[in-house]
Amino acid sequence: MISWRKHYRQTLIAISLLLSTSASIYGQDGDPKNGEKLFKANCTACHALDKQVVGPALKGVVARLDTEQGLGKDWLHKWIKNNKELRASGDKYANEVFEKFNKTEMQVFPNLTDKDIDDILAYTTNPPAPEPAKTDDAKNTANAGSANVAPQSSTTTNVVIISLLAIAGLLVWILLKLRQLVKLGQSEDLAGLNETRVKSFREIYEKYHYIGKGLIAILALLAAYGVWNWIMWIGVYKGYKPEQPIYFSHKIHAGEQKIDCQLCHSSAKYGKVSEIPSMNVCMNCHRTISEYNAEHYMEPGKDKAFYDGEIQKIYAATGWDSEKQQYTGKTQPVEWTRIHNMPDFVYFNHAQHVVAGEQAIINSFNKKNPNNKIDVVCKACHGKIDTMNVVQMANDFTMGWCIECHRTTEVDMNNGYNKEYFKNLHDKLKKQYPKDGGKITVDAIGGLECGKCHY
Ligand code: HEC
Ligand code: HEC
Ligand code: HEC
Ligand code: HEC
Ligand code: HEC
Ligand code: HEC
Repeated sequence: MISWRKHYRQTLIAISLLLSTSASIYGQDGDPKNGEKLFKANCTACHALDKQVVGPALKGVVARLDTEQGLGKDWLHKWIKNNKELRASGDKYANEVFEKFNKTEMQVFPNLTDKDIDDILAYTTNPPAPEPAKTDDAKNTANAGSANVAPQSSTTTNVVIISLLAIAGLLVWILLKLRQLVKLGQSEDLAGLNETRVKSFREIYEKYHYIGKGLIAILALLAAYGVWNWIMWIGVYKGYKPEQPIYFSHKIHAGEQKIDCQLCHSSAKYGKVSEIPSMNVCMNCHRTISEYNAEHYMEPGKDKAFYDGEIQKIYAATGWDSEKQQYTGKTQPVEWTRIHNMPDFVYFNHAQHVVAGEQAIINSFNKKNPNNKIDVVCKACHGKIDTMNVVQMANDFTMGWCIECHRTTEVDMNNGYNKEYFKNLHDKLKKQYPKDGGKITVDAIGGLECGKCHY
């Protein structure tokens, strides 16, 4: 009996150790796995780990900068977020390395959080064994209508794998023990049969009893861990960045070409949704722009032929014959993957924010982010879309995020819309929030009422 208990305890301890180490990997200040994903999505255009590409090799960059330049992680954070700003601030090494690489501009990454950067750095310090590499072609060929799924937490996948392994291990162990028992029963003398039966049944019961309890304990632990993970990840898709059927770059259109957001997303002003523009909007310009000629801006790894090919897809979709300069009538819809998508029970209205709230949101954002000011209201929620080649969710778009802004954003009670809309409420609010420094934030006009955001 003692040896049984010992086994059982050892197994439990081993399993819980396994579980807790797998959990603690994610507790460290950098998760190299997530870092690998981010690195591949954002950096591989210009960097490799072990050879110079457009920029320097980044394997062990933390240690290298520490020993060669005496620079810590905070420098790396500043550089990766916004190397331009760091250079402009007169930072010595930032300017040196820029000169060394013939003033090649590194992209800025205002959307990477500190955790993202820690993860990337953890990856450059400690890259996991290489996986079979995906070809760049697979990334470049746009796949119309492909089902893109929101990113899955790798933690959850790991937990599932570990729990399956643990359960499989336990089952094998039980089988082995049962076989031993059966052998034991077979080898008994016939004479002692009755007695043995009784004894071995009791033994079996006792053994099962512990194994059963152990199993239940482990399953409960796993379930709790799984549920916790699931809750943490509900609806949080910050960073979601699917591939689209046409490689449409906001950086080129909204950034380089300075095309106004609302030229394409025109319904933002009027209503609940701000919709992806129809192909006709594209054709307003692309009927005449059939080629990409901006030599000064090409993403590394992409060439004119690639961009031209993407523009051709507009013609294929609208059935435009550019030789004959006429429509053939053969259209084929472009299925953009929706990136932002609130659950059905949430009511979000762009007009409320883009028209009524415009100045309030811009002012408040710029006050909170004096070094990262915005000129267009959209960027307060969607981030610097005009620097993104591929749109990425810039915030977590959770309830807490909406509420946080409503609590801290002062409403502009004097704009035409609010003057009209809150005519009756205005006097009451004035009394409630005295003029001298009294701020009327969105929560005061009902911005925290459940019914305003939920059907
Ligand atoms: C558009 C190309 C480009 C992209 C994309 C890019 N970099 Fe760079 N990076 C450079 C260049 C070029 C340099 C060399 C300095 C310079 O010219 O500004 C550099 C320098 C660096 C350095 C300084 C290295 C050293 O040895 O001093 C770090 C760290 C770095 N990049 C990290 C990153 C990370 C992390 C990403 C992805 C989030 C990234 N870079 C994406 C081009 C790029
Ligand atoms: C020339 C037309 C055009 C302009 C200008 C433009 N966009 Fe877009 N936008 C698109 C297209 C096409 C898509 C869908 C493909 C994609 O996600 O890149 C899109 C997607 C988006 C999305 C993601 C929608 C989703 O699926 O959730 C956001 C957010 C967005 N744009 C914001 C902006 C902002 C902010 C600006 C101005 C800085 C802007 N756009 C300028 C055409 C445009
Ligand atoms: C207001 C004019 C305008 C509109 C509207 C417009 N584009 Fe463009 N587009 C341009 C310009 C200008 C360029 C760059 C051409 C150059 O520099 O040679 C460009 C370049 C492109 C390119 C190649 C660069 C890249 O982004 O990959 C693609 C693809 C493209 N457009 C797709 C679209 C699609 C899809 C739409 C509709 C959703 C659209 N464009 C709407 C003006 C426009
Ligand atoms: C107060 C935050 C906020 C501001 C400001 C804002 N958006 Fe949005 N945007 C959202 C939210 C939240 C969603 C998701 C809405 C949904 O799923 O119902 C969204 C979704 C979108 C979409 C996807 C299609 C849709 O309507 O669901 C586009 C495109 C978009 N926004 C463009 C813009 C543009 C362009 C501007 C500026 C004119 C802008 N947004 C300003 C929060 C904002
Ligand atoms: C960047 C700040 C910001 C964020 C983020 C934000 N809001 Fe707002 N919201 C405002 C401002 C400012 C107003 C007031 C507009 C005005 O002046 O009437 C407002 C007003 C509203 C109103 C109308 C309230 C009323 O009493 O009339 C609703 C509903 C609303 N927001 C829903 C949402 C939802 C849902 C989200 C999250 C998906 C969200 N908001 C995220 C700034 C924000
Ligand atoms: C400013 C807008 C806003 C207000 C006010 C608001 N909610 Fe929400 N709520 C949201 C958004 C947005 C989501 C969806 C979050 C997501 O998808 O991650 C949400 C999600 C939820 C959920 C689903 C759980 C979840 O996390 O997904 C519940 C339950 C909920 N809200 C209850 C309430 C109650 C009760 C109130 C009033 C005390 C309230 N909400 C007020 C915006 C709001």
